[in-house]
Amino acid sequence: MAQDTLTITDNRTNRTYTLPIENGTIRAMDLRQMKTGPEDFGLMTYDPAFMNTAACRSSITFIDGERGILEYRGYPIEVLAEHCTFLEVAYLLLFGELPDEPELKSWTNEITHHSMLQEATKKFMEGFRYDAHPMAMLVSTVAALSAVYPGAKEVHDPANRLLQIKRLIGKMPSIAAMSYRHNVGFPYVYPDNDLSYTENFMNMLWKMVEPKYVANPVLARALDILFILHADHEQNCSTSAMRSVGSSYADPYLATAAAAAALSGSLHGGANEQVLKMLDEIGSKENVPAYLKKVREGHVKLMGFGHRVYKNYDPRAKIIKWAAEQVFEVTGRNPKLDIGLELERIALEDDYFVSRKLYPNVDFYSGIIYQAMGFKPEMFTALFAIPRTVGWLAQWQEMIVDPEQKISRPRQIYTGQRARRFLPMEERQAADVAKMDR
Ligand code: SDX
Repeated sequence: MAQDTLTITDNRTNRTYTLPIENGTIRAMDLRQMKTGPEDFGLMTYDPAFMNTAACRSSITFIDGERGILEYRGYPIEVLAEHCTFLEVAYLLLFGELPDEPELKSWTNEITHHSMLQEATKKFMEGFRYDAHPMAMLVSTVAALSAVYPGAKEVHDPANRLLQIKRLIGKMPSIAAMSYRHNVGFPYVYPDNDLSYTENFMNMLWKMVEPKYVANPVLARALDILFILHADHEQNCSTSAMRSVGSSYADPYLATAAAAAALSGSLHGGANEQVLKMLDEIGSKENVPAYLKKVREGHVKLMGFGHRVYKNYDPRAKIIKWAAEQVFEVTGRNPKLDIGLELERIALEDDYFVSRKLYPNVDFYSGIIYQAMGFKPEMFTALFAIPRTVGWLAQWQEMIVDPEQKISRPRQIYTGQRARRFLPMEERQAADVAKMDR
């Protein structure tokens, strides 16, 4: 019997099947042959939240959750964070190789010259209330770019895909910065092409009346490293949204808006904002034990802790802690860090967390740095969306050119009623909604 096979006996029919095992998986479609009779649809797998289902082949990002390993195109995240700029890593994620000097120069120049937004888009953003959440503005404005670039729907044209990819990478910081300036009531700042990607983002956020914005190099480098750490993370919730929406051949602006919408959830990219709110609620190191008691009793989650894949530690959290020290040398130490460190210290000794393999994830310390740099918590998820746009687009493109992929359409287990007799109005009683399954 070949080694890489799985032999299954269907006890309903006593028939035995041998399925090939490839890359540690069996094909779900190989189960469909297992029927109890000609009317039987055949076996499916049931996997809510896709806890144990591979939906694609990808060569972009590798994660080993048990060993805390994260690699982009085979390069360890620690090496990339130490030696590269964000745009260099963006090139790697999209094209599979690190750029040489001329390639990086040309790539940086291209992205820089796609940072402007049309005035019509600026007017669109002005329509939001002053206190609109930056992520609501970002998601809506990215979707609105679909109207600005109607040609983007030609998703099978490689040159057209690359043009839209450059536009999205170039414009995401502009949209995020404009959302912030709208939120604080300051005039928008136009991009400055003399500045690097990250310095220009800081310019569009924080330039006031000075003739030319000069970014603090320590903060600019820390932000560049944070962007590298957030660039991609294989098939996370928002990337799955990008692939699913993109699989219908929706244009990349609409797919990216859907991905950003998924990222905004508090269990995903919205967690960094919730971490700061949690630290504010805790208030001091002395209150940490009482808060952890609430967590253990299931009243609240420890935001910034836990991960579907990492079951020891999130390698990004270790680098972020290092970056925090660099930032605090410039900004002064954020007192919230002491509460965070005490939370981590106690949680890592507490069986409730250790037994559930809950360790700090990428969102636990990033918010503390962002706040020290002057960002409001409402901006934190937008800061995640900027770099993750590169990962979404790399994964989207990989899906579009993958011959195995089709429109994403999962099956279901139907639990409702069947073939009901129609009720004329006079026979209907007010349904007791309270009893309805939620
Ligand atoms: C990101 O997928 C990615 O790669 C995401 C991301 C990326 O780069 O794209 O890494 C970015 O989203 C990081 C995660 C940010 N979210 C948070 O910090 C929110 C808090 N964390 C959790 O909600 C949770 O840990 C998840 C959502 C991150 C993971 O959830 P899982 O894998 O579905 O785990 P689970 O909910 O099944 O939890 C297993 C157990 C449960 O306890 P029991 O029911 O078994 O008693 O652990 C408990 C959970 O209640 N648990 C927590 C907890 N996380 C899980 N208990 C308290 N606090 C938490 N944070």
